Amino acid sequence: MAFRTLDNADVQSKRVLVRVDLNVPVADGQVSDVTRIERILPTIQELHKKGAKTILLAHFGRPKGEAVAEFSLKVVVSALHKALGLKVAFAEDCIGEKAAAAVSAMQDGDVLLLENTRFHKGEEKNDPEFAKALAANGDIYVNDAFSAAHRAHASTEGLAHLLPGFAGRAMQGELEALEKGLGAPVRPVVAIVGGAKVSTKLDLLSNLIEKVDALVIGGGMANTFLAALGHDVGKSLCEHDLADTARAIMAKAETTKCAIILPVDAVVAWHFAADAPHQTYGVDAIPSDGMMLDVGAQSVERIASVIDDASTLIWNGPLGAFELHPFDASTVAIARHVAERTRLGKLVSVGGGGDTVAALNHAKVADDFTYISTAGGAFLEWMEGKPLPGVDALKA
Ligand code: 3PG
Repeated sequence: MAFRTLDNADVQSKRVLVRVDLNVPVADGQVSDVTRIERILPTIQELHKKGAKTILLAHFGRPKGEAVAEFSLKVVVSALHKALGLKVAFAEDCIGEKAAAAVSAMQDGDVLLLENTRFHKGEEKNDPEFAKALAANGDIYVNDAFSAAHRAHASTEGLAHLLPGFAGRAMQGELEALEKGLGAPVRPVVAIVGGAKVSTKLDLLSNLIEKVDALVIGGGMANTFLAALGHDVGKSLCEHDLADTARAIMAKAETTKCAIILPVDAVVAWHFAADAPHQTYGVDAIPSDGMMLDVGAQSVERIASVIDDASTLIWNGPLGAFELHPFDASTVAIARHVAERTRLGKLVSVGGGGDTVAALNHAKVADDFTYISTAGGAFLEWMEGKPLPGVDALKA
């Protein structure tokens, strides 16, 4: 995958528009998780050291083209300043006079954050006029927001056509890791896909069975597959109307020689709550009034042995109701097994998407994976094999 990086950019004294992802969780007026901020520090620090004028562009929430106070990026300034150890100026608009005045006041090495790009309708429409108005404040464009790269918006895609475009260090790291995970992986490759519903992950499953050697299906979505195979899943979460789809996926997997690994046993409870009374049953003997809330110990052993045979692993979605103790057990056990294989140098492991990062953090293994993506939708679309407009626009 050829794309230009900061190695190729001459940034000294230049106005560098850097698209970052500052769509961070906020509670009580404070940023409550700084992971995304930490990821963009290397790019900003490098630009600062090289004497660039760093102008940060980002969206925050979904204000739908209106300037809504609740979605002002002002809320992240102090967290950004703290993490960077540099003063961060703020402009109350990302285009027009306010932005221009703030940019013209910058010295080499300064950092400026512009207000939410989604306060303008042109952002999400990828309107060329709006992109031009953004480009007026920059000489160079750097995209460091992989997690927004599935959006063809003015700041994620349009700008790359107006200014010389480069991948920032976070974007570069992400693309290199993803290439190792699925682009040109060392085989055998195993994918773990969990989460509640098959219906939200159909494209993902179809793409993976063409690309990986083994596909472990867990979480609520495994129940739909088990039911399609004729198992009684009791009161478990299950999309019975997708039985034909599940059977078609399993049939296709046979032709692509992808082994589908389904649970052989499950931890069953009678109500959905932490520490609810529970018992493990084989998938042939699920009580008709019970709910499968996690995969069982035999399934964990089987999944671990599939991982032992693999050289590359990609993971999206927890194996059970990991937010409720003790139904987090299989997710934690498998996450730790993956971490250990990775530490031993036996496995390249890449995880990402929504709940996955929370689950891997919960298992305290996120640092031991080869790479954890902070992207939600973009990671999923990448796993689905879809083009990412923000990445394609950077290709040299
Ligand atoms: C994310 O939080 O996943 C990205 O910032 C994209 O946000 P969006 O789904 O609102 O486009």
